[in-house]
Amino acid sequence: TIADLQGMKQGQLRLAVITTAKYFIPRLIGPFCQRYPGINVSLKVTNHEGLINRINDNLDDLYVLSRPPSGFDITVQPFLDNPLVVVGPASHPLANQRGISLERLAQEPFILRERGSGTREATEQLFAAHNLNLNVKLDLGSNEAIKQAILGGLGLAVLSYHTLTSAGATPELKMFEVEGFPIHRQWHAVYPAGKQLSTVAATFLDYLLTESQRIAADIQIPESTTTDPELDAP
Ligand code: PGA
Repeated sequence: TIADLQGMKQGQLRLAVITTAKYFIPRLIGPFCQRYPGINVSLKVTNHEGLINRINDNLDDLYVLSRPPSGFDITVQPFLDNPLVVVGPASHPLANQRGISLERLAQEPFILRERGSGTREATEQLFAAHNLNLNVKLDLGSNEAIKQAILGGLGLAVLSYHTLTSAGATPELKMFEVEGFPIHRQWHAVYPAGKQLSTVAATFLDYLLTESQRIAADIQIPESTTTDPELDAP
């Protein structure tokens, strides 16, 4: 029976994901563990640089990150969009403007993630590509802390759209319509190419790919700066 087959899937699953994926992956683990009660999961959450180090040290079965590293012999499977968007207070004068230029944005005080963060790197690259300097007020090691700092009036930030859609969506935060945004990124599941995936890891990867398709249909991922800027959904 199916129950017997599921019972055969036993063991430890070691996952490591970047900070933006923590808004997505933990929600999937609950139903997965219910389906496969013999599987125990350990989940590590770290930034891009921390994840590269873990891949290098071969610490986990499966990794989730946005920008797969070059120079590693890895198998890479993209599975869901992870757009980076400009976030600010709903009460901010730019909150209801359309087509805000990057130059205008550069005049605003900014909150950046810590060094080693992929979100930070993508933001810095976009500004550098336009020969613009960021006016960095604060450098913070957590997406949640950044949301609080935005609410505290310290500045604007670039964050993964997924940091805004999860439980506890904050209506006081708004996605700003800035030219060049969203920055398109995708999450990728990654594992060493030379490594035979364990049955447990292969089972989770299958599950991840299937479930993310289903969830993608529910999340309204912003395609361009002209889509609905309201964040209070879902
Ligand atoms: P971060 O990851 O936690 O390193 O910013 C996000 C990303 O790389 O998309």
